[in-house]
Amino acid sequence: MTLLKKSRRSLLAGFAGLMSSSMIAGKAFAGVLTPRAAEGPYYPTPAMRTPDIDNDLVKIVGLVQEAGGEIFTLHGSVMDTDGRPRAGHRIEIWQCDMEGNYMHPRDSRSANFDPAFQGFGHDITDGTGSYVFRTIKSAIYPGRTPHIHVKVFDGDREILTTQFYIKDDPNNARDGLFNRMSEIDADAVSMVFVEGEAGPEATINMFI
Ligand SMILES: [Fe+2]
Repeated sequence: MTLLKKSRRSLLAGFAGLMSSSMIAGKAFAGVLTPRAAEGPYYPTPAMRTPDIDNDLVKIVGLVQEAGGEIFTLHGSVMDTDGRPRAGHRIEIWQCDMEGNYMHPRDSRSANFDPAFQGFGHDITDGTGSYVFRTIKSAIYPGRTPHIHVKVFDGDREILTTQFYIKDDPNNARDGLFNRMSEIDADAVSMVFVEGEAGPEATINMFI
């Protein structure tokens, strides 16, 4: 959890920088609405999830082994289009394991799902609208480019369902859902990995 808290701090510093550069440009800060995307067939119901549904998908409480795959920190903020933080919002992510298996009975290969990978997790945005996850780089599920599914809730109300991609992944060009987006929209949900304090990290800010 220490690492995750540090990530929140570095995110805040980055966001402050973003705000000040917008001020220098003499414009009010405004973001592009985060593009919506299909939920897909594998959103796990509560009964399908592990008992641990925290924001560290790499470590399941009670298990010594960590998930297989390339671990990274995914973080960002949830804001309205004027840049005002949306605090107390529930962010959920779900994704396949490093071999492309989903933790969902509808996926015929779910029996092979990595038992050390949580597959689903959630975080609640803090007062600055920030969220953070520790997870693995998304793998290829047959027929799709690597992606992470995301939902945002305001209380019980679902306000956004989207998918995050990997910037410049060669499989993006052949992905029907990815190609439906404009370049601006695609960039808004494409993860760029940089080396952070705790290893690779990517920032996706969501505007709702
Ligand atoms: Fe998917």
